[in-house]
Amino acid sequence: IKKTLAEMREYLYKILVVGDLGTGKTSIIRRYVHNIFSSNYKSTIGVDFALKVIQWGPDLIVRLQLWDIAGQERFGNMTRVYYKEALGAIVVYDITRPQTFEGVTKWKKDIDTKVALPDAWGGGQIPVILLANKTDLIGEGHGQHANPTELDQFCNENGFLTWFETSAKDNSNIEEATRHLISAILKLE
Ligand code: GTP
Ligand code: MG
Repeated sequence: IKKTLAEMREYLYKILVVGDLGTGKTSIIRRYVHNIFSSNYKSTIGVDFALKVIQWGPDLIVRLQLWDIAGQERFGNMTRVYYKEALGAIVVYDITRPQTFEGVTKWKKDIDTKVALPDAWGGGQIPVILLANKTDLIGEGHGQHANPTELDQFCNENGFLTWFETSAKDNSNIEEATRHLISAILKLE
């Protein structure tokens, strides 16, 4: 959605945030939007929303409408409705629980079968990035860093733009990851 205010441009982008239960989707969004973190786990029911307004350049404002979709929704039948008109997605897994990485391919397939770019933008797959979250726990003796070569290859084979290691707790790489996704969407404009 495009709005021209004198010389100002303003874009509104709907972004999906998906991944298995407890991987840190809500925490990543809270960190990104409100700069807070809590170690209490309160599972999302259905979907939550958050808005982040970014001054991208002197004459461009990007409004990100973040759709925080509950991990348990992969087993429901609402995702088609939630995904409607999304222009990008973030898939999250938890590096301390390898089984959540198996969820990554399933979420990506779910996205690719249920949503596409608008026809005016070619109708292809929406840009998707992969987040390997909770890297702060490596220092605590849980999980390990991703193998960059393996993850690069995984992203190539599965149609992810790229991947980032993140920590919602330490506020690491979340801005960088979202910036990468926004850049990719802006290139489609
Ligand atoms: P659902 O809504 O159930 O799908 O889960 P979710 O993906 O939204 O996970 P949520 O953000 O609620 O986080 C689950 C638990 O992991 C919480 O206890 C968080 O505090 C914790 N957590 C999330 N991100 C991080 C992180 O980067 N580091 C650490 N140490 N804990 C995290
Ligand atoms: Mg949640």
